[in-house]
Amino acid sequence: MLQEARTQIQQAGNLEALQTVKTHYLGKNGEVTRQLKSLGALSPEERKVKGQEINLLKQEIDGLISAREAELKEAALQAKLASEAIDVTLPALSLPSGGLHIITRILDDLSDIFTRMGYNVVEGNEMEDDAYNFQHLNIPWYHPARDLWDTFWLKDGRLLRTHTSPMQIRYMLEHSAPLKIVVPGKVYRYEATDATHESMFHQLEGLVVGDNISMADLKGTIAELARGLFGPKAKVRFQPSFYPFVEPGADFAVWWENPRGESKWLELGGCGMVHPNVFKAVDDLREQRGLPRMYEGKTGFAFGLGPERIAMLKYGMPDIRYFYANDLRVLGQFKGEL
Ligand code: PHE
Repeated sequence: MLQEARTQIQQAGNLEALQTVKTHYLGKNGEVTRQLKSLGALSPEERKVKGQEINLLKQEIDGLISAREAELKEAALQAKLASEAIDVTLPALSLPSGGLHIITRILDDLSDIFTRMGYNVVEGNEMEDDAYNFQHLNIPWYHPARDLWDTFWLKDGRLLRTHTSPMQIRYMLEHSAPLKIVVPGKVYRYEATDATHESMFHQLEGLVVGDNISMADLKGTIAELARGLFGPKAKVRFQPSFYPFVEPGADFAVWWENPRGESKWLELGGCGMVHPNVFKAVDDLREQRGLPRMYEGKTGFAFGLGPERIAMLKYGMPDIRYFYANDLRVLGQFKGEL
């Protein structure tokens, strides 16, 4: 019987099968148990001899089963470890990392330059009223200059701001002079797109108001901006121009040599001395709100520039539409720039 038990135990392929074998021999009605029970029918001497024999057999089978059980458990553990193994030498997945948009970076950079000159950075809403986008900026409804700002009108009569200049009015309404602010943000123009025109683009507006602020201050500020952007050798140029909310008004350009050795004038934006009508409009609004009139008699300058133009020049970007087509092959090239 021992021989037979040994074979069966060895052949038990898993713990369940082993348990069946165990029950077969050592269970309540198992072979060995039955033999033990039959001892009662024997004479005392025979019982002694046979009893020892059966007990020995029982111990042996028990031992074999325990050994096999240990073996099976070890095998199961090894199989589990193998199936859950991780190959730490496999190359990692390369997860694409995000980055700030190139225009965001340029606006941040511009904001830094002006923050160093003591300006506050503020933002306005992209949704505006006719009054703030035009009228208070000395652009009445019949003014031909309105053609310059082709407008996206909203259903309720409001509009998407066509420039960041409305923040000049909004800021002066709530703050007193002297003040120095820049306003980065999105603006919208209802016009056909081409390589140099988009219906959404960005501006950085600047406004300085105080006593005895002059055109010389404006020029010095723009020159400082140019050096901050393009290095100590950058030059600036001003040409007379017209914007209803400044007088005199000018366009400014920056001369800069890029790393490819190319250099030319880059028309960057408009500027000028704040028009007295703008100060008057602000004081009228302040009065309506029960605030003291305080801007008439002050002097100041304002400017507005386009970060897209800076990026196009700096990086040789041939088409403004690339900025917003969200092609990662284009945008990815600017990660970590600036
Ligand atoms: N708001 C003008 C534009 O959209 C730019 C500008 C700002 C000009 C401030 C003069 C002063 O083109």
